[in-house]
Amino acid sequence: MKKLRRKKKIIEIKIEDAIFPNKSIGIYEGEKIIFKGGIKGQTVKVQFKKRKKDYIEGKLLETIENSPLEKNLTKYTEYDLGPCPYGTLLYEDELQLKEEQVLKLFEKENIKDFKFLGIEKSPNEFAYRNKMEYTFGDAFKGGPIVLGLHKKGRFYEIADTDGCDLVDEDFTNIRKTVMNYFRDKNSSFYNKRKHEGFLRHLVVRKAHSTGQILVNLVTSSQDNLNSKEFLNELLSLKDLKGKIQGILHTINDGLGDTVKADELLLLYGKDYIVEEILGLKFNISPFSFFQTNTWGAEKLYSIVREFIGGEKKDVVFDLYSGTGTIAQIISPIAKEVVGIEIVEEAVDKAKENMKLNNLDNIEFIADDVLKAVDNIDKKPDLIVIDPPREGIHPKAIEKIIDFDPDRFVYVSCNPVTLARDLKVFEERGYKLDKMKLMDMFPRTPHVETVVLIERR
Ligand SMILES: C[S@@+](CC[C@H](N)C(=O)[O-])C[C@H]1O[C@@H](n2cnc3c(N)ncnc32)[C@H](O)[C@@H]1O
Repeated sequence: MKKLRRKKKIIEIKIEDAIFPNKSIGIYEGEKIIFKGGIKGQTVKVQFKKRKKDYIEGKLLETIENSPLEKNLTKYTEYDLGPCPYGTLLYEDELQLKEEQVLKLFEKENIKDFKFLGIEKSPNEFAYRNKMEYTFGDAFKGGPIVLGLHKKGRFYEIADTDGCDLVDEDFTNIRKTVMNYFRDKNSSFYNKRKHEGFLRHLVVRKAHSTGQILVNLVTSSQDNLNSKEFLNELLSLKDLKGKIQGILHTINDGLGDTVKADELLLLYGKDYIVEEILGLKFNISPFSFFQTNTWGAEKLYSIVREFIGGEKKDVVFDLYSGTGTIAQIISPIAKEVVGIEIVEEAVDKAKENMKLNNLDNIEFIADDVLKAVDNIDKKPDLIVIDPPREGIHPKAIEKIIDFDPDRFVYVSCNPVTLARDLKVFEERGYKLDKMKLMDMFPRTPHVETVVLIERR
């Protein structure tokens, strides 16, 4: 590439291929251009950004021509395509695209000779999310207050999420009621640059199995909430399918844009909801992690159970155990389960949930997997690993393999780091036996991968 002259050049290009996670590839004058977003088959406008070793990194500017794969064009607005980049595809095509991307990635990494068991659909294609974190702001400078999501690629502007079909109508009802209430009161929203203003976020969680709803309003301390009025607005909502179980007010004066609490006030009811998966109960509090697709999680954990097999085990480890969902699912077929998780609150929740389900053979350890494994003097038959997107720490993976179990079940939300980690398992005498994909997030490029790794 002739350096500066072409540095910010804008070209029109056809998307020839897609790689995980939803990166598009096109060819321009014999050179590969790779950029985020887009759908295979589209013609798009792309700007050159950076020269990489064997390709040029680009930035997608706009779609010029739709892809033949986009058979669902009328339904979606520009807003929807922010949170729903695969919104214009039919679900079957979306699943195929995800499958292709993951398999291509594995092929590129030369991981082969395993059984591929296909991709499982999400049980609900729509309204599958059990949690939404809405933000207060305006759609344009000086406009009325809006409660919704950030517009695609924008730091400030918020889009109303009317018509968002990733959630059911209870979410929409609650969001609109809260938005209109504060609009009428002319309340201010928190400006992230100036750190001024009152309203920050509204987090709504709904347990799909029980219909219980938890509403958490997050504000700064720069104004006062009339909690009586606010409760009245929410509790007089007539058309809810579920039931509001708790309403909380979180006060957060932190400068970052994340939802956290300086102070947490329970305004009404209980500070948790109960979700049920595979016959087990899970208490979910405002800040605890829980898979965002309840029925999808049930299917994901069924795949984990299928890969583990039904025969009785002595000791099983559940590494990166979160709120202990997997550990509790394994509990009936093991003498002993050890769960390790770095977030203490998640471990507290895991212990609570274990009691709720009358299980007594699980030990939960609150620590970094990298450190905790040094202090365990047990020999596991099986290790289940469900790490965050970054995969397993390079030092931790060596220590985990040193336990020398016959099998590992690895659940991954990022096939890129899974492929990297599988290389290490291969070098240490293990092989990938089988793999199944589970679509937990329809309309988005994300996909969960479950693999069984066995000693060679
Ligand atoms: C994908 S989630 C696993 C969720 C879990 N299986 C569940 O169902 O709740 C990954 C978890 O790894 C935890 N984690 C991240 N880094 C860790 C580390 N170094 N050691 C232990 N846990 C860690 C995160 O807090 C998170 O709960």
